[in-house]
Amino acid sequence: MSDAVPSPGRRKLLARISIGLGCVGAALIGVPVVGFLLAPLFEAVAKTWRSVGPVEQFKNGATVQVKFADASSVAWAGVTAQTAAWLRRELSGEFVAFAVNCTHLGCPVRWLENADLFMCPCHGGVYYNDGSVAAGPPPKPLTRYPVRVRDGQVEILTGPTPIT
Ligand code: FES
Repeated sequence: MSDAVPSPGRRKLLARISIGLGCVGAALIGVPVVGFLLAPLFEAVAKTWRSVGPVEQFKNGATVQVKFADASSVAWAGVTAQTAAWLRRELSGEFVAFAVNCTHLGCPVRWLENADLFMCPCHGGVYYNDGSVAAGPPPKPLTRYPVRVRDGQVEILTGPTPIT
């Protein structure tokens, strides 16, 4: 009969083997899960042309907000997959689109028709109607999206939400 108690050295060795096997098991399960969750953050997002409406819907000289699906959204994004831009049809008929996100910390800017300015409510950032900075903390102009007209539809080339 062997009632021998393992020696302290053997007990330590068994404990280390148990901990080591536990770490290996956790890594085998955890690495793929973490990789799956973080992969979307490191994938290059292709820019996508999004239709925002027929040309005749936009009046010359007017700036309106248009909504579209964010090119960088993930499958589980829900309503956050929707984003927006400010679209202006110049008096000449040309289109210009600005990101709604302030270049300071990303708050959505508002278009003030009467003042002819974009205003950011978060820290008082102000932009002229061409998107350049008029006042406040924004470090650079509003991001512009390329715009084109195809088959009577105004399209915006969307990419990841331009938050700096
Ligand atoms: S986020 Fe717009 S001014 Fe700070």
